[in-house]
Amino acid sequence: MVTFSNEPFTNFALEHNRRAFMAALIEVKALWGKQYPLVINGQRMITSTMLPSVNPAQHGKMIGLAAQADSSLVEQAVESAADAYQSWKQVKPSVRAAILYKTAALMRRRKHLFSAWLVHEAGKTWQEADGETAEAIDFLNYYAGEALRLLEGRTPLVTVTGEDNQWTYLPLGVGAVISPWNFPLAIMAGMTAAAIVCGNTVVLKPASAAPVVAAIFVDLLVEAGLPDNIVQYVPGAGSAIGDLLVTHPAVRFINFTGSMEVGLQLNEKANRRSPEQRWIKRVVAELGGKDAIIVDRNTSIRDAAEAIVQSAFGYGGQKCSACSRAILHEAVYDPVVEEIVRLTRQLNLGDPELFETNIGPLIDRSAFDKTAAYVEIGQGEGELLCGGGRDRSIGYYVEPTVIAGVEGRSRIAQEEIFGPLLAVMKAVDFQHALALANDTPYGLTGAVFSEDRMNLEAARERFHVGNLYFNRKCTGALVGVHPFGGFHLSGTDSKAGGPDYLLQFLQPKVVSERL
Ligand code: NAD
Ligand code: ALA
Repeated sequence: MVTFSNEPFTNFALEHNRRAFMAALIEVKALWGKQYPLVINGQRMITSTMLPSVNPAQHGKMIGLAAQADSSLVEQAVESAADAYQSWKQVKPSVRAAILYKTAALMRRRKHLFSAWLVHEAGKTWQEADGETAEAIDFLNYYAGEALRLLEGRTPLVTVTGEDNQWTYLPLGVGAVISPWNFPLAIMAGMTAAAIVCGNTVVLKPASAAPVVAAIFVDLLVEAGLPDNIVQYVPGAGSAIGDLLVTHPAVRFINFTGSMEVGLQLNEKANRRSPEQRWIKRVVAELGGKDAIIVDRNTSIRDAAEAIVQSAFGYGGQKCSACSRAILHEAVYDPVVEEIVRLTRQLNLGDPELFETNIGPLIDRSAFDKTAAYVEIGQGEGELLCGGGRDRSIGYYVEPTVIAGVEGRSRIAQEEIFGPLLAVMKAVDFQHALALANDTPYGLTGAVFSEDRMNLEAARERFHVGNLYFNRKCTGALVGVHPFGGFHLSGTDSKAGGPDYLLQFLQPKVVSERL
């Protein structure tokens, strides 16, 4: 078995790395405008409706056209996945794992090209794009290793004289993988790879805002040796084909990452059994967040403010892990706020094609309008300290915005905005800070800056989030190092990139033979 280690990030301080990345951006730009067909049973199909994928930094520029599945094509895709399952489930786990390792190796060779697609299609800065490609490589390598660990060899059971007892894991069947646009490569690849390495087949519906990088990934799997009928690639509007995918009686499980609203609806629909259905569907759902960083009275103000600004405004706040609430002890409230505002004003909002850009655009018009609406709401709920400006003439740009003096039950302190808006709150003491932090429907990430051991231990026990960080930012989980996923309405408590993730796509069987 290959020992897992995380893919290193590119050092852009080095001139030759910057040149190589620039060359990849130019190479990918030359490919803009191509058509990306559906893939069903290995057949590539152009459809009568082709949806443009646009560059959010320059929304007049179309980077590709993705075919759109309708219900009859989804029906075909599920049937093909069900047929393919009969042979794929019999392929040895070591062979399935080898395909993931090979895919990771190919992606590493074309790393900057994948990252360049993320810059152009998702509006990621160089660093964010590079981090995401590294995470995709990590998911492939990590799940390959996990499949070997779980599926090769024999799980020990208690010995009984006169009997041979065996525990094995079987795949589940056809999975619907429904992915979000904000990590259109890493999360989509991780959700798909985990399902197939276990012996399942997949109907993949990527997010409508970023289908091109998903199409390129599906081609890469096939290039790495995956039979071309294992992953069916069916882009389409969630509202048009989502219900059919989720309720189809041949679909055995749903691996969804996206908003709480869609996740809850989908969970309800998947739980209603149709008469032909012979199983209880499994739903793995990774949903939204309203993540907080607490700053205690005795800590480095500079470090805390830096972590808050990075976590709040990295990728324009468009991460489920983003810090959207800073909860500051009243003893340090003023200096921390001052430092947050100072650092925020230094951020460079612009086209992410440029290396100097720290924050790119929001993904689309609807994200732009939603964030703009919350900036207005926030001004009625606190004091606007910086940002608030916006411009959608060329791309969907909103300035990083800080609103202070916000109460815990305000809308901007409770609702997921998914844009560059930070709500700053004051706590009278550490207990109050913890109470504020826990007081939302979500429980995804959080961080605490403190030098007080007792307070850190109180947070360890009572700050109820799936990923809690001490004295560092609350974004940037590493595969295998910080297995990722949340509590409450942030999801089904699963941990992507963790040692029990694959179990969600397997069923254990025990065979007992009297000797
Ligand atoms: P979304 O819920 O709008 O869409 C997610 C996916 O679901 C897309 O592919 C979309 O087309 C599809 N979809 C939409 N309606 C559907 C329906 N009725 N039936 C089936 N599928 C449907 O989310 P998004 O805007 O793409 O992503 C942002 C959200 O994802 C945020 O809330 C963010 O917090 C969350 N997210 C969570 C994690 C995590 O690990 N917890 C990671 C990334 C993103
Ligand atoms: N896994 C991503 C992070 O930790 C969302 O930021």
